[in-house]
Amino acid sequence: MRLTLHVWRQTHATAGGRFERYEVPDANEHMSFLEMLDVLNGRLIEQGKEPIAFEHDCREGICGSCGMVINGRPHGPVQRVTACQLHMRSFTDGDEIWLEPWRSAAFPVLKDLVVDRSALDRIIQAGGYISIRTGAAPDANAVPVPKRNAEQSMDAAACIGCGACVAACPNGSAMLFTAAKISHLGLLPQGQPERFSRVLAMVERMDAEGFGNCTNHGSCEAACPKGISLDFIARLNRDLIRATLGKGMEVAAG
Ligand code: SF4
Ligand code: FES
Repeated sequence: MRLTLHVWRQTHATAGGRFERYEVPDANEHMSFLEMLDVLNGRLIEQGKEPIAFEHDCREGICGSCGMVINGRPHGPVQRVTACQLHMRSFTDGDEIWLEPWRSAAFPVLKDLVVDRSALDRIIQAGGYISIRTGAAPDANAVPVPKRNAEQSMDAAACIGCGACVAACPNGSAMLFTAAKISHLGLLPQGQPERFSRVLAMVERMDAEGFGNCTNHGSCEAACPKGISLDFIARLNRDLIRATLGKGMEVAAG
């Protein structure tokens, strides 16, 4: 396959960026998208040029680090597939491919296709934990969990923190990510003691990081490689209302 790539190149966070054109004359349909970039980078290094910076780690769709916008879509043209799991057979000979980093005020570009997603880590730090007694592991099934809750919690825990939902959202909202993280704890018995303080703290952190508001556009769910449902945002909003009202009542009583 012969491909033409237009890649966003930016040397550092405050530098101006531009698209640069590269020819890839020998892509193979069995390559992953990142392997195709590896081949291009090998050639750039041989030519004494700066390779294209992109983030990656697991290359098997579980770490969430490989996000980039491919032809205008976060993670590329195949639904529920991360950029690292995308294969060149999803493209055709002669294609032109445009590569950009996530575009969001809360994700500053560090270099080329690499953005700083630490704002998501700070949302987790604000409340994405449970306070438990540590020690020996409890016996299996010692804490009964309704099957429906266990399944929904597992669905929410599938979020890999890639940030595609933010990149896809016209408002740059992180609601789908935050809702997934709040829900996977809030659906389990172990997550109940901090359930309402958690939602207040994580939403406050999300707002402070500069993410936009959710207006139910739905682009996040469509772009999410793990199929995180918008239902989790509805669940977050229900908990947020209860937490806010509860806090208001505490203030009134106190
Ligand atoms: S909700 Fe989906 S798109 Fe957003 S960070 Fe999690 S896995 Fe990525
Ligand atoms: S490199 Fe880990 S999800 Fe793509």
